[in-house]
Amino acid sequence: SSIQVFAPATVANVVCGFDVLGFAVNEPGDEVIMRRTNKAGITISKITGDDGRLPLNPAKNTVSVSVQHYLQSIGRTDIGLDIELHKKMPIGSGLGSSSASTVAGLFAIKTLMGDDTDASTLLPFAMKGEEMACGHGHADNVAPALMGGFVLIRSYEPLDVVRLPHPANLWCAIVFPDVDVPTREARQIIRNKIQMKDAVTQWGNIAGLVSGLFMQDIDLIGRSMKDVLVEPVRSMLIPDFYVMRELAMEMGAVSFGISGSGPSVFAFTRDEDTAKRITAKLQQHLTSIKIGSNAYVS
Ligand code: HSE
Repeated sequence: SSIQVFAPATVANVVCGFDVLGFAVNEPGDEVIMRRTNKAGITISKITGDDGRLPLNPAKNTVSVSVQHYLQSIGRTDIGLDIELHKKMPIGSGLGSSSASTVAGLFAIKTLMGDDTDASTLLPFAMKGEEMACGHGHADNVAPALMGGFVLIRSYEPLDVVRLPHPANLWCAIVFPDVDVPTREARQIIRNKIQMKDAVTQWGNIAGLVSGLFMQDIDLIGRSMKDVLVEPVRSMLIPDFYVMRELAMEMGAVSFGISGSGPSVFAFTRDEDTAKRITAKLQQHLTSIKIGSNAYVS
C-alpha cells in the first residue's frame, strides 16, 4: 500500500512570539509519497526540488529519522518503507521547509499504520526532526504544519499546545529574498539576556496579538506585531528589510516581519488583492536591488 501526504509551509514566531507562535499557509507545501516494502528498514528512493542538497541516506534525512523514531515508539521497526520527498519550497527560506517534510512523513506513517490518535501526538517526533535540522527542537513550525491554522506553544516542558482562532479575512503576503539564512546560524546571533523593559514590551505585544486573534480585531493584531528582541538582530541578515517594511505598510499592510528565522518576510493584509499587490511589489524590489558579498580577506 502507498500514501501521498501534503504538509504546508508555516510562518513561525509571527513577529513577537519567538518559538511560541506559528501559523500554516495554504501553499506552498511539501509532499511525501510513502510505500510499504517487503524488506525491514527505510529507504529514500527519490527527492525532488532540493537542488541535490538533502541526503538520500535514511540515517541522515530528517524525514526518515523522525519516521524511524515513530516506528520505534510503536514497536514496529520490522516494517519496510520507501519514501519519496517532493520539495515545493526552498530550503533555509524561513518557511518551515524541513518541518513541512518531516510532518508529511510522520502523517504518512501514522495513516499507513492505521493509528487514529490525534495528529498532535506526532509533535514530539517532529520536534526531534527540527532538532536534527537546526540544533534546536522548537515546535512553532511543526505544530501549525500538523494542526493547521494558528498554534501557540504555551509550554515546551511539559508540551502544551493550543490552537488559536483567527479572523476569516486575514491574508498573508510572503516573499523570499534569495539569500541563505540557516536557522542554526540565525539562532546563534540572538542575544541570550534581555532587559526587563524589553520583556515587558514583548509580553504586552504577544498578549495583544493573541487577544486580537480571538477578538477578530485586525487593528489590534497589527499594532501588536512588534518585536524588540529578535528582529533588530536578524533583520541585518535580510536585504533591505526596513525598506520592504515601509513599502508594505505604505501599500496597506496591517503588519510586516520576518517569517521564522528568515530570510522570508511576510505581511498581513485585510484582503487578497492587497496581499497580491504587496507580494508583487516586494518581489520586484528584491530583483532590482543587488546583493553584494560580505567583506572578506582575499
Ligand atoms: N522559532 C524559530 C526561530 C523558527 O525563530 O529560530 C525557525 O523557523
